[in-house]
Amino acid sequence: MRQEIVDFLIIGSGVAGLRAAIELAPYGNVLVVTKDKPTESNTEYAQGGIAAVMSDEDEVGIHLEDTLKAGDGLCNEGTVRTLVEEGPERIAELISWGAEFDKEGSKLDLTLEAAHSRRRVLHAQGDSTGKELTRVLLSKARSFPSVRRYPFAITVDLIIQDNECHGAYVLRDREMTALYARATILATGGGGQLYSRTTNPQVATGDGMAIAFRAGAELEDMEFIQFHPTSLYSPTAPQFLLSEAMRGEGALLLNSNGRRFMQSYHPLAELAPRDIVSRAIISEMVKTGSNYAYLDLRHLRRDFVRSRFPSIHATCLQYGFDITGDLIPISPAAHYIMGGVKTDAGGRTSVKGLFAAGEVACTGVHGANRLASNSLLEGLVFGARTGNTALSSPINPSARDTAVFSPASIRDHDEIRHALRKLMWDRVGIIRCDTSLREAASRLLAWNIITERDYATRRELELKNMLTVAEIIVQAALARKGSVGAHFRSDFKDRGENWQQHFTWDKNCIKLSAQEGCNQ
Ligand code: SIN
Repeated sequence: MRQEIVDFLIIGSGVAGLRAAIELAPYGNVLVVTKDKPTESNTEYAQGGIAAVMSDEDEVGIHLEDTLKAGDGLCNEGTVRTLVEEGPERIAELISWGAEFDKEGSKLDLTLEAAHSRRRVLHAQGDSTGKELTRVLLSKARSFPSVRRYPFAITVDLIIQDNECHGAYVLRDREMTALYARATILATGGGGQLYSRTTNPQVATGDGMAIAFRAGAELEDMEFIQFHPTSLYSPTAPQFLLSEAMRGEGALLLNSNGRRFMQSYHPLAELAPRDIVSRAIISEMVKTGSNYAYLDLRHLRRDFVRSRFPSIHATCLQYGFDITGDLIPISPAAHYIMGGVKTDAGGRTSVKGLFAAGEVACTGVHGANRLASNSLLEGLVFGARTGNTALSSPINPSARDTAVFSPASIRDHDEIRHALRKLMWDRVGIIRCDTSLREAASRLLAWNIITERDYATRRELELKNMLTVAEIIVQAALARKGSVGAHFRSDFKDRGENWQQHFTWDKNCIKLSAQEGCNQ
């Protein structure tokens, strides 16, 4: 097996990974490993924007309150405070590196999204905010000769000795390499691909959560999956995200009979928190016997819609929908995992030498439901903080004994992936109950053997990771006998007893207890 020693190993190249790389670059050599090309991440596809207090009409305290309220009582107030207080500085820094956010005259053009009580969402090129962040962060990272990229390499597992992380085994072109590092940072993003309906790109298969779990790290809040209310619904089109910013600018939701309905579900109507809007849409779909509802922008000025949402407009046109004049069929889709690898505000996990930032991590900043456009901000703020903490990692990297892999292959792995994604959508989706979750648990058990072997291809390794993360989500959803934020149980519609506790999972607990979890 090939071996290499680096100072800092970063797995993932979305906003959190790149921001951490920039922080570490002056202090040693940094290797950024990605399983695809470096631009292929959830960050790249983010449309709506990035939330931060950047105007005199807004206050950090109000951003804090909005975030806590959306999190439905389960946020960690300390990390939320860090997010909203450090956010404006991180954005100013990004602008100084060349980020071009949309402006109105000389002022930033700030938009509104659901559950924000002020206009505070910055955007770029209308609806291509993530692309702009990726462009600027990649170019800044490239300006340091100490930062190298290692694309098309999937991480198989972390190198763990005595509960310390010494790096990772990665696979590229069927060749395994042991990468030893002083500090290993997971920035692999989320796992929307676990669901058959998702806004996430193909790369979002929960890899970081699964490899951290196998390495003995703790995962927290895994029952909280956010479903975005509006993704394009058409048998002939991709499940393309239709940004919440569209509703922020006045778009309405109609059921398939053409009737507006959100006012009867929440006083904020179309701008209610995402979990409420997603459930309302499902409920209208059931009432009208339809697989979709509509997003309606027909009452907005055509030239405004075209210039404010140029990329959405162009993409929808490709599939025969003109957002300036047609009703657009939509359905909710899995979008974001609030839970993840448990970290403190400096990105430290429960395993020495292992750090995590961005969607893969759970700092408690999102609680039970993430406030729109807080995730790019999270990546910037906690990416930088994690880079900083990783500088004092106690690991002394050296090429030590190397594990032996005996790769097997999975027969019918594409069929299993397809069945898993459908199972998660049907049984562990927007509305769950004991019966649906137990059915999912027993189906997953039948596939469990897959999670115990080594594999030789990216697709197989992804499936192994997806199955691991699915099992944790199901166990966490069974353990929370109540409905909070994005976790809704039709058999426990109230919050339930001890609803403020968080469920934390490690590889021993999940194997030991199928029902009750090993909550703290
Ligand atoms: C969107 O543009 O609606 C997505 C923004 C987010 O998820 O934060």
